[in-house]
Amino acid sequence: MAERPYIVGNWKMHGLRAMLPEARAIDRGAQRTMKVEVAIAPPATLIHAVYREVEQIGVGAQDCHGAAEGAHTGDISAAMLADAGAKFVILGHSERRQNHAESDAVVQAKVQAALDAGLKIILCCGESEAVRDSGKAVEFVVAQLRASLPAGLEQAGERLTIAYEPIWAIGTGRTPTVDDIGEMHRAIRALTVELFGSDEAERIRILYGGSVKAENARELLGADEVGGALVGGASLTAESFLGIVLAASELQDA
Ligand code: 13P
Repeated sequence: MAERPYIVGNWKMHGLRAMLPEARAIDRGAQRTMKVEVAIAPPATLIHAVYREVEQIGVGAQDCHGAAEGAHTGDISAAMLADAGAKFVILGHSERRQNHAESDAVVQAKVQAALDAGLKIILCCGESEAVRDSGKAVEFVVAQLRASLPAGLEQAGERLTIAYEPIWAIGTGRTPTVDDIGEMHRAIRALTVELFGSDEAERIRILYGGSVKAENARELLGADEVGGALVGGASLTAESFLGIVLAASELQDA
């Protein structure tokens, strides 16, 4: 696992202000586990409120527009997210790619816009079940990442995290084997070395996401080249999320 594992909660479209105490509890738990970097990405409406509530954990967003500003009713720019207190943004999540028809080119524009606004990126990738069954998952994911990353990205080690989330494992309770995760993460690592050089590449954390829970976190986080987890459902309560943080911390000690 990475020097300092990164455990990120993606709250998706969950969370009213009544959930702020949960964010506070996550923050207090993270203060006791400083070996693990902890962050949450609440819905955009809660970013500023969570940012004001917490001291230790990172706060981020789940999407941004690809333009700096303009006539885009209902959209939110990267600079607005930064202004609200976000330090990073999750981009290219499969739920955005599928439900909002986001192509790799659209994701690439968003990555660039977010970097321009000073945000760090968690770039998601992952194959469908049909692609996994066809035996072409690694090829597919590597191509998806190549097409979603902006050319000439500098300081990638500092600014980029990659999250491998097989679509068929999201919210299903199913997970790939540790060997399959290791194979995918090694391929992603090799791609980052090719694109950014080994010095930058070794600092890029590659997260696994898809049905991560406290009960399976130790096993999944122990897979080759896994630098942390991107967690959906199990990040919605401090109790379940901190169980994952604890598993990451115990692996560090092991
Ligand atoms: P679940 O942890 O609910 O499977 O969601 C994973 C995910 O999509 C995180 O971005």
